[in-house]
Amino acid sequence: MRQSSFGLVLASCLLALVSCRGGLSKYPPVHLVDDMDVQLKVKTQSRSAFDFAAWNAEAPADHMGMRVPPLGTIAHGSLERMALGVYKDAAGGFIDNPVTLTAEVMARGQERYDITCAVCHDRAGSGQGLVMQRAPAGSFNPKMPDLATEQRIRDMKDGELYSIIVEGKATMPAYVRQIKPSDRWAIVHYLRALQHRIKN
Ligand code: HEC
Repeated sequence: MRQSSFGLVLASCLLALVSCRGGLSKYPPVHLVDDMDVQLKVKTQSRSAFDFAAWNAEAPADHMGMRVPPLGTIAHGSLERMALGVYKDAAGGFIDNPVTLTAEVMARGQERYDITCAVCHDRAGSGQGLVMQRAPAGSFNPKMPDLATEQRIRDMKDGELYSIIVEGKATMPAYVRQIKPSDRWAIVHYLRALQHRIKN
């Protein structure tokens, strides 16, 4: 009887200690029972023990953990980049917008433009966004183009506008990492709407 209650006290003390993780810790959690965090896996750039060459005669026997994808396959999640990441045709000319214009696409383009581009270009494209208004004189490009009225920009092909989002232009940084391909084309549609608003 006494022994079992002693065991109970000990067990609850242990439990209290084990579960006492009040503060943040910089150490990884202690796994009393291994969960899926603890498993055999090939980490980025590490060596793989698997002998690919024994399994497939055409595979190099290099034991590299990161494999080149088999020909004709598309990695999970990269379909959009394959389909909508291209903005030039085979001859090197800028292409037309491949995304069909719908009310949803236009709304999406407006939202993305207002979030990403309007800080500099202003919501109407005038080039007088908050950054331009507040930047100390001469610290930024003083000749900020008006995306809606400037004929040179109105004449640009859709693919060229897209390329400016991808590559940036002079003092404008590239936005390729922040905006996914379908959204880039949606923004191009919205730029056209800003331009149509102004009569020729
Ligand atoms: C950090 C400020 C900034 C942001 C944000 C920005 N731009 Fe620009 N953009 C500029 C500047 C500065 C120029 C003028 C570049 C030059 O020719 O010196 C420019 C030029 C342009 C031009 C005209 C290029 C030319 O040939 O004259 C287009 C089109 C354009 N931007 C589109 C966009 C779009 C679309 C976005 C949002 C995805 C965007 N910009 C976001 C600063 C910005």
